[in-house]
Amino acid sequence: MATSPSRHVAVYPGTFDPLTNGHVDIIQRGAVLFDRIVVAILINPTKSPLFSVEERVEMARTVFKSQPAVEVDTFDGLLVDYAQQRQANVIVRGLRAISDFEYEMQMALMNRHLSSAIETILMMPAESYTYLSSQLVKEVFGLGGSVRGLVPDLVETRLREKVGTGNGIRV
Ligand code: PNS
Repeated sequence: MATSPSRHVAVYPGTFDPLTNGHVDIIQRGAVLFDRIVVAILINPTKSPLFSVEERVEMARTVFKSQPAVEVDTFDGLLVDYAQQRQANVIVRGLRAISDFEYEMQMALMNRHLSSAIETILMMPAESYTYLSSQLVKEVFGLGGSVRGLVPDLVETRLREKVGTGNGIRV
């Protein structure tokens, strides 16, 4: 008996302020495993990010424009509600080091408590990105250090534009 093909959609949520090559690595690994991976950028009015949500969406959409399996979207409210709305059965999160584990496990178990239908999958980036975070990228760039190879070229350009326009780097 023929079975109807099931589509596996994963949501990769985060702040992405800004997108780093560690995020890109996880997204590319996810795009191999799932039919679609939705990069879901949290709209959080209580945080004061360096890049607006619109800027973060534009950067991520440009970086993944040639990859149809990668979609970039925004969300607010509960992640599990958003995942259900997108008919996603998986939440992907990156796990860089053991120091990430406690926070990720807390979130995964809380999300399971909220919706047992959605599974969290923790994925390891390439070793060279295990020390990388958006926060460190902003700090290093703001202090004049090089972030070449740590973020997509477009993100480096946008960082330079921010500093150039006098917005400064708030970390
Ligand atoms: O990149 P970040 O800041 O580590 O991402 C955190 C994020 C966006 C995944 C998390 O804050 C989140 O899921 N927020 C949505 C609100 C929610 O669902 N909270 C309960 C889940 S524990």
